[in-house]
Amino acid sequence: MAIERTFSMIKPDATKRNLTGAVTAKLEEAGLRVIASKRVWMSKREAEGFYAVHAARPFFGELVETMTSGPTIVQVLEGENAILKNREVMGATNPADAAEGTIRKEFALSIGENSVHGSDAPETAAQEITYWFSSTEIVG
Ligand code: CMP
Repeated sequence: MAIERTFSMIKPDATKRNLTGAVTAKLEEAGLRVIASKRVWMSKREAEGFYAVHAARPFFGELVETMTSGPTIVQVLEGENAILKNREVMGATNPADAAEGTIRKEFALSIGENSVHGSDAPETAAQEITYWFSSTEIVG
């Protein structure tokens, strides 16, 4: 298995409830290393740009509103098979479908306020990392 990098966000619903440490602990316990991290309050333009792939979806307005409602922790995670591993630790997008022990099962409130985001493929991981971080901010 290859060492990969993936992009992760701890969303406003989680930062508002003081869950930054609890979520990060789950990631670290799974063997993922946080090699970049910062706290941002997204502008509407940043949220729309980041989620541009969903622009035509009916939930897009609500998604942008939710993501601009408070601080987000943006992170780069590194580890063996990091993209898939992060998605396993997060659990299903809808917390109602998430497996026991996953971040979304334990912490998410709803599909819209689902506490975390993680890249779904190597190409999106690279794009999403570049969207938020310069190379000098990533310290393996
Ligand atoms: P995320 O992994 O960040 O990617 C897009 C987000 O849109 C998703 O998590 C959800 O939080 C949000 N979302 C809101 N409503 C829906 C929906 N009906 N289907 C999929 N995603 C949704």
